[in-house]
Amino acid sequence: MLVLGIESSCDETGVAIYDTRSGLLADALHSQIALHEAYGGVVPELASRDHIRRVVPLIRQTLQQADKTLTDLDAVAYTAGPGLAGALLVGASVAEALALALDVPAVGVHHLEGHLLSPLLGDPPPTFPFVALLVSGGHSQFMAVRNVGQYALLGETVDDAAGEAFDKTAQLLGLSYPGGPALSRLAETGNPQRFALPRPMMHSGDLNLSFSGLKTAVSMLVKAHQPEDYPDIAASFEAAVVDVLCHKAREALAQTGMKQLVVAGGVGANRRLRAALTMQVEKQGGQVAFPPLRLCTDNGAMIAYAGALHLQRQTHRTTSGGTFAVHPRWNLQEYAKAL
Ligand code: KG4
Ligand code: ZN
Repeated sequence: MLVLGIESSCDETGVAIYDTRSGLLADALHSQIALHEAYGGVVPELASRDHIRRVVPLIRQTLQQADKTLTDLDAVAYTAGPGLAGALLVGASVAEALALALDVPAVGVHHLEGHLLSPLLGDPPPTFPFVALLVSGGHSQFMAVRNVGQYALLGETVDDAAGEAFDKTAQLLGLSYPGGPALSRLAETGNPQRFALPRPMMHSGDLNLSFSGLKTAVSMLVKAHQPEDYPDIAASFEAAVVDVLCHKAREALAQTGMKQLVVAGGVGANRRLRAALTMQVEKQGGQVAFPPLRLCTDNGAMIAYAGALHLQRQTHRTTSGGTFAVHPRWNLQEYAKAL
């Protein structure tokens, strides 16, 4: 079965083709970073307009790369939420129109489910069940994943998401959007032990997280120090986030009795976090899996893949007759319950 996947929930247009027999055939991405950089964050209207410009050429490109034509497709999967309404609508309407014209099913996928399942595209893939740590620009949560569609929330951030904390802290340090990668590059040259930043909720006894206090602590440090101290501030900030996530990951495995940790979402690209989690989980006798680096951030491959899994298991809700909806706010468990 050949599935085209379209991701357009935020500032990346991602298109991919997944074959249930031979895996990922093609995967193309257009990032809008340059478009939003001057504004210090994503401008929704500009995002939607750019998705419109990019999506059809990217579909052509992936088909060509996979050596396939539109009529070879067996289904079209797209991100139906959560995300920016206008941006989601671009991917959804293109996917639904294509599916209608080709007379194949359209599958609306939850963006976080795409992230959660993306480590299964790695080699070797993890096996169910596993604890997933989802750390992106909009979400930070621990989930117990027993199978496709079986997601139980173990804990989540009570304020900022981990990626949001990276982005806001980077902004305080004068780094450009999106701040996460820039901050971690700066941190590589700094001393992570110079500033003792708080480890919020580290010993709260549950699996919830909090990052906004950390950002406030950094803003005070920035006011009291000079730009030459910024690498040390960046490194100390990163060390605090990594510490808390490692500690809670250990608790999550202990609480669930599961042996595997799977890390997904943009912050999962962070090298210090990857190294620390690997050490932590191995010390506990478990295994840790990360998606391939390029699949950590938003992409079409994870959407094509999640769509294909649902079609294979017949746990999808396909729309028909050109009626569809997008869900800018969408709870993953509600979505899973309705599957
Ligand atoms: O998963 P993602 O691409 O988009 C969302 O669904 O949110 O995650 C983007 C987030 C941004 O906040 C970005 O700064 C962060 O992931 N990020 C990183 C790194 N690469 C991306 N944060 C820390 N270190 C990185 N290397
Ligand atoms: Zn994402």
